[in-house]
Amino acid sequence: MAIINIEKIGIKIDDPERCKKFLKENGITYERWDTGKIENNEIDQEKILDSFREEIEKLKKMGGYTTADVINMNPSTPGLEEMLAKFRKEHTHSEDEVRFTLEGRGIFFIHPERGEVFSIEVERGDLISVPAGTRHWFDLCGERRIVAIRLFQNKAGWIPNYTNSGEDRNFIPVCFGPSFIRHNEH
Ligand SMILES: [Fe+2]
Repeated sequence: MAIINIEKIGIKIDDPERCKKFLKENGITYERWDTGKIENNEIDQEKILDSFREEIEKLKKMGGYTTADVINMNPSTPGLEEMLAKFRKEHTHSEDEVRFTLEGRGIFFIHPERGEVFSIEVERGDLISVPAGTRHWFDLCGERRIVAIRLFQNKAGWIPNYTNSGEDRNFIPVCFGPSFIRHNEH
């Protein structure tokens, strides 16, 4: 279940329906997908994509996505810190950022046109779609691990356009669930 944190005004939302409503008001799609049909710790890309074929096809039709793959990052991934350094600077994309988390946890920060920056911590079963053009950044939680399905309209669209606003430096990526693991500061 996702956890939303609007740090500047001290509001945290972890109720599924309230999360969904808040995110919808901010243009972000949020869904829970049933993960009961796949083993914990499954990392085989074909098995994962096959298990969620129906959900993926539905999203593809709705959002015009053409391809799906599985990203698997963990502390033994070569170049992990270099990759994360790119993700955690505020940026936009020319297409939606669609992620369905299966293992591990990550934290998206959203910098809306109006209102305060908020974070969304995602875990197994959370689907999130951040619309094209939305200012955001991403980091992993303390265990430095994520397995997630990604959908693309065009793989080239994932290229980040950095805003260089420096806003990302005002927030420490603190994850709350399930054991309040505090992220290393950067
Ligand atoms: Fe991004």
